[in-house]
Amino acid sequence: MKAKARAHTNIALIKYWGKRDEALFLPTNSSLSITLDKFYTDTSVRFDPKLQADQFFLNGQQASQQETTKISAFMDKIRLLAGEKHYAVITSENHVPTAAGFASSASGYAALAAAATKAVGLELDNRALSQVARQGSGSASRSIYGGFVEWQKGELEDGLDCYAVPLLDKDAWDLRVLAIEVSSVAKKVLSREGMKRTVETSPFYQGWLHAVELDLQTMKQAIATRDFTLLGKTLEANACKMHATTLGANPPFLYWNSATMQVMEAVQALRDQGLEAYFTIDAGPNVKVVCQPSQVDQITSQIQSLDVVQSIQHCRIGPGISYLDQE
Ligand code: ADP
Ligand code: DP6
Repeated sequence: MKAKARAHTNIALIKYWGKRDEALFLPTNSSLSITLDKFYTDTSVRFDPKLQADQFFLNGQQASQQETTKISAFMDKIRLLAGEKHYAVITSENHVPTAAGFASSASGYAALAAAATKAVGLELDNRALSQVARQGSGSASRSIYGGFVEWQKGELEDGLDCYAVPLLDKDAWDLRVLAIEVSSVAKKVLSREGMKRTVETSPFYQGWLHAVELDLQTMKQAIATRDFTLLGKTLEANACKMHATTLGANPPFLYWNSATMQVMEAVQALRDQGLEAYFTIDAGPNVKVVCQPSQVDQITSQIQSLDVVQSIQHCRIGPGISYLDQE
């Protein structure tokens, strides 16, 4: 009744931004990501008949009541699926900053879905696992797979056609991602809350829904033809469109700070020097830069010279979930 799994984070090149069903985590738009090798979560789950409630330990510390309740609601879904009655001890280590726009929720829920379903004795294929992970955090559905991954929004009300599919293996196209940290403070508006506010109040949201479908098609074409310039232009523009919707929300909000904008400007200036770097940003101030292997060193040293940059982590495209031995 115990299992341990590892899942890597992913960075969306085409963003997931908005739900059509909050209980089932069904998105309003399909999205596309690459899984990163550097950032991951290891989670172990042990069901124990003696427990009166689930216990959640994150990075060596017992999590708050609020976090434990959130995890327990997800565990209830797995218990229901498996006909399991017992509670569990969940122990997780994030090798990624938590709630700072580095997608800890993606690796966190993908690792938990894999470990918990295995511990409870369910034998799920990756598609079914992606559907379980989705119900902890939408972006976690994509972290089941390595490489390039599409999360298909589906049409059905029950979500049975809503899951991630692998598009390209991690070794098929060697791209690099520089994760640029400008702040390690947890964000004020979590992605869940931010996308809900945007869907409900932003007049720009309809424009997003129209544009994101076109961006997804363009991105798939760029991937199929290995057209890096098209991939880069499309991912940067898609991130800007997503963030533009938040300024139309009520009350308005913005995940960027002045350091974020300095990095964005620097990336655009690099292109004028012939260095092909493109940025993307999730629900936090940190920036990810996508580039080709041959230009990593030059791009890193130029971005490093900005005062606002705290650290740069060089990522390759990473693998999907794996199961680990228990210590
Ligand atoms: P991030 O940018 O880090 O993904 P989110 O706001 O999307 O930020 O998600 C952060 C939330 O994800 C945390 O508040 C927590 O509820 C959840 N989370 C993070 N790490 C884990 C983990 N290892 N296991 C389960 N849940 C996690
Ligand atoms: C901006 O997957 O964290 O990173 O489904 O509510 O848990 P919930 O949201 P989450 O949102 C991710 C939003 C994003 C874009 C993306 O990863 O596609």
